[in-house]
Amino acid sequence: MFTGTLPFNARRAEIPYIALAPMEGLMDGVFRELLTAVGGIDHCVTEFIRVTQQVFPEKVFYRLCPELYNGGRTKAGTPVHVQLLGSNPELMAGNAAKAAKLGALAIDLNFGCPAKTVNRSQGGAVLLQYPDLLNQIATAVRQAVPSHIPVSAKMRLGFKDKTLALENAAALEAGGIQWLTVHARTKTEGYKPPAYWSWIAEIRKKVAIPVLANGEIWTPAQAEQCQRESNSDLLMIGRGLVATPDLGRIIKEPGYEPMSWQQHLELMVTMADQLPHLTDKQLTDRLKQWLHYFSMHSAEIKAVFEQVKRERERAPFFAALADLSN
Ligand SMILES: Cc1cc2nc3c(=O)[nH]c(=O)nc-3n(C[C@H](O)[C@H](O)[C@H](O)COP(=O)(O)O)c2cc1C
Repeated sequence: MFTGTLPFNARRAEIPYIALAPMEGLMDGVFRELLTAVGGIDHCVTEFIRVTQQVFPEKVFYRLCPELYNGGRTKAGTPVHVQLLGSNPELMAGNAAKAAKLGALAIDLNFGCPAKTVNRSQGGAVLLQYPDLLNQIATAVRQAVPSHIPVSAKMRLGFKDKTLALENAAALEAGGIQWLTVHARTKTEGYKPPAYWSWIAEIRKKVAIPVLANGEIWTPAQAEQCQRESNSDLLMIGRGLVATPDLGRIIKEPGYEPMSWQQHLELMVTMADQLPHLTDKQLTDRLKQWLHYFSMHSAEIKAVFEQVKRERERAPFFAALADLSN
């Protein structure tokens, strides 16, 4: 029996709750630090820890979730939940217990990853074909984690089709999880728009636990439409927050003045400062990845991206970006 409190309870009515989505290879501790400092984000989820054969040593958890050194929160104070991916209930439970012992504020179970290597080793979205197994994993993890620490799950609408969407959600709820996040597409639908938000409303009718709606929220208008169609004001946003770091504030704060290009640039400089160990090539690759997202909403930034996309050295890279501010 869960004895803790849910993060959504402290929320002010009328203002949507916004979680930052887990994004493997992109949304690490440095990025979470930067985005939560901008504001408007209620919780984050780590990249997944892939559980296959063992209960990991502590260093693995600290590497994926450096916030564990800080009580499980980013410096801005935003809670970070530890995500596990795998199919073996006992091993998932053992790793969940370990994460909880290290101070994880919540444990999230990944049933959405479409990657072939992950699915081949029976983890992620492939498990959406087996509601009983989802239930066993959730049950084992819930039992292994202290009763005040929430356990949640993140699923897609299905593997190849959506026929098991409601059954999977119910199986996870019966396993004792505290909330469910739904990326409103099947594994086969990948990342191709649209996201089928109205399916989330169907899932909400089926289960009593809170449901976070996820997929294709890039603008305040889409956030509103998603809330309407999913019948949920609990949102999770991934790529939209990479492209628009202050999207959470734009959505939540009427009259908020969106960040200027200069402020975007300052964020990139801060990221560079946080990554002194990277070579120039590694750093510029990483910043280009981010710039590519920024360029989605500005022809001017797109032009700069084209200009710097072959640049491998940090100084000329930043010089070209600074030009855009003038
Ligand atoms: C690069 C990348 C990595 C991702 N890694 C994870 C992950 O580790 N765990 C997970 O549950 N979802 C992962 N996802 C899925 C996202 O959390 C989210 O469900 C998806 O991007 C849809 O939301 P969005 O349209 O707001 O980005 C990843 C998505 C992307 C683009």
